[in-house]
Amino acid sequence: MVHILVSETRSALITGLTGQDGSYLADQLLEKGYDVYGLVRIPSMPTSTLIEHILDDVTLIDGDLTDQASINRAISISKPHAIYNLAAQSFVATSWKQPILTSEVSALGVVRILEGIRYLAPDSRMYQASSSEMFGKVQETPQTEATKFYPRSPYGISKVFGYWAVVNYRESYGIHASNGILFNHESPRRGLEFVTRKISYNVARIKMGLVDKIQLGNLDAKRDWGYAPEYVDMMWRMLQQDEPSDLVVATGESHSVREFCDEAFRHVGIDDWESYVDVAEAHFRPAEVKELRGDASLAREKLGWAPKVDFRRLVQIMVDSDMELLTSHREMTEPTV
Ligand code: NAP
Ligand code: GDD
Repeated sequence: MVHILVSETRSALITGLTGQDGSYLADQLLEKGYDVYGLVRIPSMPTSTLIEHILDDVTLIDGDLTDQASINRAISISKPHAIYNLAAQSFVATSWKQPILTSEVSALGVVRILEGIRYLAPDSRMYQASSSEMFGKVQETPQTEATKFYPRSPYGISKVFGYWAVVNYRESYGIHASNGILFNHESPRRGLEFVTRKISYNVARIKMGLVDKIQLGNLDAKRDWGYAPEYVDMMWRMLQQDEPSDLVVATGESHSVREFCDEAFRHVGIDDWESYVDVAEAHFRPAEVKELRGDASLAREKLGWAPKVDFRRLVQIMVDSDMELLTSHREMTEPTV
């Protein structure tokens, strides 16, 4: 069960504050009374809309996971009780186009954080954003903490490296560092390049007559999709454990991209959705992860965690949010990937 740390105001440093998870985590930590610091890349500061609502409540420290000095500086300034390393080059498709950058940020970046902790904040607790992409070409289904990794992309490889760096620093130096092996989690704050948000956003545009069609890749890929705010809550819970550990966080159900389309279009009253979707070679990957499905029994047992938002509800939340966004005339610039 969760052992909750109660003491004076605690401080948390979040890398990846401007992303989906970082922004939800900041909301939740502020709610719990933490002083929240974010390591952010300078160009993100004026542009990220996801943290606009909390800009007066958090302290931004400019830095980059490729730059050890800026990480050390952020740790020195924030004196964190907890460090959540959420920053990454997180888009799998881009990792084939920028494999070196992906490794620098998502693999070596983890070691840089761990080195910062080792020398500057050895008593702080660290959460590492590990990923179900590490299972890649899955060796068993469902995947658990004991399932062997078989990454299928430069992104997956970098996450495996980061995972083992955390385990090694824990075993070598006694650092309280944990890996959350999170399966896909989505929300209205998801980037437009990821398939769920690409679908929800374009379904809303099609419904409102703003575009005619959407281009997708492999409709048969299956993922275990959960709701991001619930997954972010698990990150915090993991750092409340007396002993660090590595845990799978998943819903236990998988659904295809095709099913996601089906639900999303149906939600806005479009049944013949196939005529609105073109399958394009450009959106297929050099090596595909066909299906991911996780078993979060251990998380349930140790931390009492269970997801509440199911697949259908998740799709509805995302489509409704994008309908609302477009109704208020806020069309976004879509990425070209
Ligand atoms: P996201 O929305 O893509 O956010 C990524 C964050 O990393 C952004 O804040 C980005 O900042 C930052 N970043 C990128 N490169 C950086 C660098 N060189 N230095 C410092 N910051 C950098 O990702 P997310 O969905 O919130 O995911 C959070 C973490 O969980 C990631 O590590 C991801 O790989 C991992 N993960 C996600 C899922 C999922 O389904 N969402 C599942 C498993 C694991 P900018 O605003 O400057 O770009
Ligand atoms: N992005 C995208 N765009 N994916 C598509 C498309 C498309 O047009 N068409 C089909 N897909 C398929 C992809 O081939 C993949 O099999 C699946 O949809 C999901 O793709 P993404 O939404 O891009 O997510 P991901 O599963 O590759 O990676 C996400 O989840 C990981 C956890 O398993 C990211 O958030 C990673 O950072 C995270 O670690």
